[in-house]
Amino acid sequence: MDDADVRFRTERLVVVRRWRPEDRDAYARINADPEVMAFLGPPMTRQQSDALARYGESWVVQAGLGLLPAVRAADGEVLGMCGLHRHRWYPAEVEIGWRFARNAWGHGYASEAAEGWLAEAFGASGLSHVISIIHGANLRSRAVATRLGMTQREETRRTGPDGHDEPIVVFELTAATWAARATDVSGRIR
Ligand SMILES: CC(C)(COP(=O)(O)OP(=O)(O)OC[C@H]1O[C@@H](n2cnc3c(N)ncnc32)[C@H](O)[C@@H]1OP(=O)(O)O)[C@@H](O)C(=O)NCCC(=O)NCCS
Repeated sequence: MDDADVRFRTERLVVVRRWRPEDRDAYARINADPEVMAFLGPPMTRQQSDALARYGESWVVQAGLGLLPAVRAADGEVLGMCGLHRHRWYPAEVEIGWRFARNAWGHGYASEAAEGWLAEAFGASGLSHVISIIHGANLRSRAVATRLGMTQREETRRTGPDGHDEPIVVFELTAATWAARATDVSGRIR
């Protein structure tokens, strides 16, 4: 992989700065999967998926954020998407988001990518906190947030992508909690 567009690496993943044409094919398959989209709205067309990739990319330019592909370092497989953006429901805050291929669930890849993005958020970007907006019934996503040390800030209801009223949970992690947790983790390793 050309290093010029690498945003950061984790133990098993590479997160790249730019979506490439070959990434978009894999992303379209992920976004067309009804199981992946269970809490996110109807499965997406190719055009909608490409637009979502462009949206994710646009955050790199406008704010140093980005919803970018998470690529397995070992074989270059696009496993999913993870990153930071400002959600239209909470535009004053930065949301961390994740979406992975069904066959990539259950390996810790989403949490690994998200940990990398938290280091970006609280390191280079200097954010005070990040949030994650999750459908109340999306237990796998709630588990990722909890694994990252995020805590529940708010339970509310919103009109979802299919026009129905949906329960949502807003998770939050502050820079101070993240820093204390990072110290704990390194303490445990030592
Ligand atoms: C939400 C989503 C990303 C979670 O994926 P996930 O793989 O369950 O999450 P993680 O990366 O944290 O992996 C944790 C699982 O991997 C297992 N695992 C295996 N190896 C691991 C390792 N080396 N490190 C950590 N976990 C590991 C864990 O035990 C856990 O398994 P479990 O669910 O059986 O308990 C995924 O379900 C998804 O993409 N859903 C559809 C899109 C979506 O809803 N996005 C969220 C919108 S708010």
